[in-house]
Amino acid sequence: MARFTRTTKKLAQRIDLQYFKRSSPFRRWRFLLSVGLTALAVVWLAWQTLARNNRAYSSGQMATAHSLLATQCAACHVSRTGVFREHATNQACLECHDGPLHHANQVFAPDCASCHVEHRGPVRLAATSDTNCTQCHGSLQAKGGSFSFAVDRNIEGFHSRHPEFAALRSGKGDSGTIRLNHSVHLRKLRVSPNGPEEIQLDCDDCHRTPGDKRPWRFGETPSDRDEAQLRTAAMEKPDPLRPNPTRAYMAPINYSKHCAACHLLQFDTKKRFTEGVPHGKQPREIHEFLMNKYQGHIANHPADLRTIPMPDQNLTGKPASPLAQNLSPPQWVDEQVAEAEKILWRKTCNQCHTLSFPKGASLPEVAPPNIPVKWMLHAAFDHNAHRMMTCTSCHAGATTSQLTSDVLLPGIQNCRQCHRPVLDAAESRCFECHTYHDWSKEKPVKGRFTSQELLHGIATFPQPRDAEPGQR
Ligand code: HEC
Ligand code: HEC
Ligand code: HEC
Ligand code: HEC
Ligand code: HEC
Ligand code: HEC
Ligand code: HEC
Ligand code: HEC
Ligand code: HEC
Ligand code: HEC
Repeated sequence: MARFTRTTKKLAQRIDLQYFKRSSPFRRWRFLLSVGLTALAVVWLAWQTLARNNRAYSSGQMATAHSLLATQCAACHVSRTGVFREHATNQACLECHDGPLHHANQVFAPDCASCHVEHRGPVRLAATSDTNCTQCHGSLQAKGGSFSFAVDRNIEGFHSRHPEFAALRSGKGDSGTIRLNHSVHLRKLRVSPNGPEEIQLDCDDCHRTPGDKRPWRFGETPSDRDEAQLRTAAMEKPDPLRPNPTRAYMAPINYSKHCAACHLLQFDTKKRFTEGVPHGKQPREIHEFLMNKYQGHIANHPADLRTIPMPDQNLTGKPASPLAQNLSPPQWVDEQVAEAEKILWRKTCNQCHTLSFPKGASLPEVAPPNIPVKWMLHAAFDHNAHRMMTCTSCHAGATTSQLTSDVLLPGIQNCRQCHRPVLDAAESRCFECHTYHDWSKEKPVKGRFTSQELLHGIATFPQPRDAEPGQR
C-alpha cells in the first residue's frame, strides 16, 4: 500500500523548481509581444507627433462643422505655456466666430464648451441640451431683478412646463386695421353682381411667403404682373440645400396684389373714367388727383357744363332746349369732386379702412394698416418646414372668422402633438424654436489662420490677443 502514501516531501519533489527560469516558445512570444508592442506604440505616437497628427490624443471625433480641425488641437486647446490644456477656452472659439451674449441682464455667462460639447461625433453643435437653458429658466433670475419678457420663470421643457404663446395669452387681439371677413371670402364669390363666374378663393390667393414667385390671381393688371413676376422667378432658382429664409413667414397683405381685381376704386358714377383712384394715398392726395381729372375733362368737354333737365320734367313735347342754368368750370369741378368723394369716403375706402374725420378738416384720414408681419417675437417659426400640412390644421378658425380682431394663430397644444421629447416625433428641445445668442450684436471676426496652418497644423499655440477677456 506504500505506493499510495502521500507525504509532503514526496509532493514537493514533484514541483519543478526551475520552471520560471526555463524558456519556452510560449514565454518567448509573450515577452517579445509585450516589449515589442509597447515600443511600437511609442514609435507610432512619436511618428504621429512628428507628422503633427494629434488625433491620437483626442477623446472623440469632431463635430461636422469642425471636421477640418480634427488634427488642429491647438485651435481650441490654447495654452500660453505651449502645453496642451484639456479645457477649450472661450477665447479660442471667438477667434473663429462670435458668440454674442443672450441678454444684458443674465446673471452669468456659461462657457461656450458647456453648451457646445465637442468630441461627440459628427453632430450639430448648436443642438444643445435643454439643461443648458433650464439651468437658468428653471428658476430665472435677472440682474437687478428686472425682467422685460419672461412671464413664466419656471420653464422645464416644451412638453411639460412652458408658457402659452403671448399672442394667445394676452387676449389683446389683432392690431391690424384692415377689415376682412375671412368667412365671406372663403365661400363661393360672384365678383360682379351679374357676371357669370363663381370664384372659390384659397388661402394662397392672399397669403404667400415672399419667396413664392408665382403670379397672383387677383392682382392689379394681369399682363404686367405675370411677366415681371415670372422674370424674377426664373432668376432666383430655388436651391434645395439652402431652404430659403424668405419662405418662413407670410408676406403682409397688399391691396394691389390681393384685392385690386375684385375691389375697384372707381369714383365716377357717370362712367366718364374707367380707371379708379390710385391706392395707398391719403385723402388729400386723392383730392388733388380728382381735381386734376375733372379739370382736364371739362377743358376737353365744355358741353358738359350745361346741366341737362330730367326727361320727366320736359313735358312740352318740344325738343328740349339747353337749360339756362350754366355752371362755371370751377363750380362744375367742385361739384363733381364732392360727389366722387362722398362715395369714396363713405363707401369704397370705408369698406376696408377705418376713416377718421378730424374736427375742422375738410378731408378724412385713413388709419395705418398695422398688419403684423411676425406675431411671435420671441420664437422662430417656419411655414416652409410645415408645408406638408393644410393651413387649417393650424389656423382652424380662418374659415369661420368674421372679424379682423380674431386671432387665428395656433396655441401650444397644437405644436405639442408633434414636437415631443420622444424618438418618433419632431424635435422638441429649446433650440428648435429659440436662439440663445443675440445675433444682432454679432461682432465681425478677423481671420488669423493661414490655410497652411489649418490644413497642416498650427505650429505655435496661438497666443491670446489680450488677457483672456471671457465672453464678450
Ligand atoms: C473645435 C475645438 C476643439 C478642437 C479642435 C479640439 N478640441 Fe478637444 N475639446 C474641445 C471641447 C469643447 C472640449 C470639452 C472640455 C472643455 O473644454 O471643457 C474638449 C475636450 C477635450 C479633452 C478632455 C476630455 C473630454 O472629452 O472632456 C481631450 C483629452 C481633448 N479635448 C483632446 C483633444 C485633442 C487631442 C484634439 C486634437 C486632435 C482636440 N481635443 C481638438 C474642443 C476642441
Ligand atoms: C479654427 C477656427 C474655429 C475654432 C477655433 C472654433 N470653430 Fe466653431 N466653427 C468653425 C467653422 C469653420 C464652422 C463652420 C462654418 C460656420 O458655420 O461658421 C464652425 C461652426 C461652429 C458652430 C455651428 C455649427 C454647428 O454644428 O452647430 C458652432 C456652434 C461652433 N462652431 C462652436 C464652436 C465652439 C464652442 C468653439 C470653441 C470650443 C469653436 N466653435 C471653435 C471654426 C472654428
Ligand atoms: C445665464 C442664464 C440664462 C441661460 C443659460 C439661458 N437664458 Fe434665456 N433668458 C435669460 C434672461 C435673464 C432672459 C431675459 C428675461 C427678461 O428680461 O424678462 C432670458 C430670456 C429668454 C427668452 C425670451 C426673450 C428672447 O430672447 O426671446 C427666451 C425665448 C429664452 N431666454 C430662451 C433661452 C434658451 C432657448 C436657452 C438655452 C439655449 C436660454 N434661454 C438660456 C437667462 C438665461
Ligand atoms: C381675400 C384674401 C384672404 C384670403 C383668401 C385669406 N385671408 Fe387670411 N388674411 C387676410 C387679410 C386681409 C388679413 C389681415 C386682416 C386680419 O387679420 O383679418 C388676414 C390675416 C390672416 C392671419 C393672421 C391674422 C390673425 O388674426 O391671426 C391668418 C393666420 C390668416 N389670415 C390665415 C388664413 C387662412 C388659413 C386662410 C385660408 C383658409 C386665409 N387666411 C385666407 C386675407 C385673406
Ligand atoms: C375674388 C374676388 C375678391 C377678392 C380677391 C377680394 N374680395 Fe373682398 N369681397 C368680394 C365680394 C364678392 C364681396 C361681397 C361679398 C358679400 O357681401 O357677400 C367682398 C366683400 C368684402 C368686404 C365686406 C365684407 C362684409 O363683411 O360684408 C370687405 C371688407 C372686403 N371684401 C375686403 C377685402 C380685402 C381687404 C381683400 C384683399 C385682401 C379682398 N376683399 C379681396 C370679393 C373679393
Ligand atoms: C379692398 C380693400 C381696400 C380698399 C377698398 C381700400 N384699401 Fe387702402 N389698403 C388696403 C390694404 C390691404 C392695405 C395695406 C397694404 C397695402 O398697403 O396695400 C391698405 C393700405 C392703405 C394705406 C396705407 C398705405 C401705406 O403705405 O401705409 C392708405 C393710405 C390707404 N390704404 C388708403 C386707401 C384709400 C384712400 C382708399 C379709398 C380710395 C382705400 N385705401 C381703399 C385695402 C383697401
Ligand atoms: C404648423 C402650424 C402652421 C401651419 C400648417 C400653417 N401656419 Fe400660418 N402660422 C403659424 C404660426 C405659429 C404663425 C405665427 C408666426 C409668427 O408670426 O411668429 C403663423 C402665422 C401666419 C400668418 C400671419 C403672418 C405671419 O407669417 O406671421 C398667416 C397669414 C398665416 N400663418 C397663414 C398660413 C397659411 C396660408 C398656411 C397654409 C399654406 C399656414 N399659415 C400654415 C402656424 C402654421
Ligand atoms: C403635424 C406635426 C407638426 C405640428 C403640429 C407642428 N410641427 Fe413644427 N415641425 C414638424 C416637422 C416634421 C418639422 C421638421 C423636422 C424637425 O425639425 O424635427 C418641424 C419643424 C419645426 C421648426 C424648425 C423649422 C426649421 O426650419 O428648422 C419649428 C421652429 C417648428 N416646427 C415650430 C412649430 C410650432 C411653433 C408649432 C405649433 C404652432 C409646430 N411646429 C407644429 C412637425 C410639426
Ligand atoms: C416647438 C417650439 C418651441 C420649443 C421647443 C420651445 N419653445 Fe419657448 N416658445 C415658443 C413660442 C412659439 C413662444 C412664444 C413667443 C412669443 O409669443 O413671442 C415661446 C416663448 C418662450 C419664452 C418667453 C415666454 C414669455 O414669457 O412670453 C421663453 C422664456 C421660452 N419660450 C423658453 C423656452 C425654453 C427654455 C425651452 C426649452 C426647455 C423652450 N422655450 C422650448 C416655442 C417653443
Ligand atoms: C447656454 C448655451 C450656449 C452657450 C453658453 C453658448 N452657445 Fe452658441 N449656441 C447655442 C444655441 C442654442 C445655438 C443655436 C441657436 C442660436 O443661434 O442662438 C447656438 C449657436 C451658435 C453658433 C452657430 C451659429 C450658426 O451659424 O448656426 C455659434 C458659432 C456659436 N453658438 C458659438 C458660441 C460661442 C463662441 C460661445 C461662447 C462665447 C457660445 N456659442 C456659447 C447655445 C449656447
